Amino acid sequence: MLLEFRGVKKVYQNGGGAFPALKGVDLRVEEGEMLSIMGPSGSGKSTLLHLLGLLDRPTEGEYLLMGKPTSSLSEEERAYLRNRFIGFVFQAFFLLPRLSAVENVEVPLAYAGVPPQERRRRALALLERVGLLDKAKSLPNQLSGGQRQRVAIARALALNPPLLLADEPTGALDTRTGEEIMALFQELNREGTTVIIVTHEPMVAEKTRRIVRVRDGEIVADERRG
Ligand SMILES: Nc1ncnc2c1ncn2[C@@H]1O[C@H](COP(=O)(O)OP(=O)(O)OP(=O)(O)O)[C@@H](O)[C@H]1O
Ligand SMILES: [Mg+2]
Repeated sequence: MLLEFRGVKKVYQNGGGAFPALKGVDLRVEEGEMLSIMGPSGSGKSTLLHLLGLLDRPTEGEYLLMGKPTSSLSEEERAYLRNRFIGFVFQAFFLLPRLSAVENVEVPLAYAGVPPQERRRRALALLERVGLLDKAKSLPNQLSGGQRQRVAIARALALNPPLLLADEPTGALDTRTGEEIMALFQELNREGTTVIIVTHEPMVAEKTRRIVRVRDGEIVADERRG
């Protein structure tokens, strides 16, 4: 089992009081799976993904990663896992605007202490992988939405994480570009990466064999198809 939620709850404290965003979620994901998480706005999808990505902690319950309870990890250990083990892709790309495509992809490699020449070589190979080698020197604002998302995916893959988490990765893209991005995720999954995608779009979810449906902070369906 790659990851497992046992009775995970998340309660946000805000101004007036407490808001239960997740009300006791049980979820198991095997290594090599590709699944989508669907549900209405405000149902808790991003909250779930943040917890999976160790960006936040459950209020109650346990999150086991590779069989180990994450509640006992230190902040340092969590940061290490986040950097080395998990790749993140977001709807809004979050590229650094003053850095070129290849420099954006180099950022996590720099943090990991990869020397400059090796960094550049690997970043270019990643851009080639997502079909963007010819745009390596372009700044984000010189790229289309789909191309920016490809750069963001290349960056997420820089340290070869076994787990890829994507929050509405096609939300800002037109249908065709979204399909290209999904094809890329499917290819990564075929090569062994576990992929979890939050999406509103049935067309995106159709591309995954498993669909987890969330409503009001609870999993209401977990569908698998042949
Ligand atoms: N930091 C926060 N503080 C307080 N409440 C929050 C916080 N983050 C999220 N919430 C609330 O928790 C609920 C779930 O939010 P979440 O972002 O997980 O929803 P979502 O399913 O991703 O929605 P969307 O599809 O609109 O992105 C919402 O009602 C939201 O207002
Ligand atoms: Mg969300």
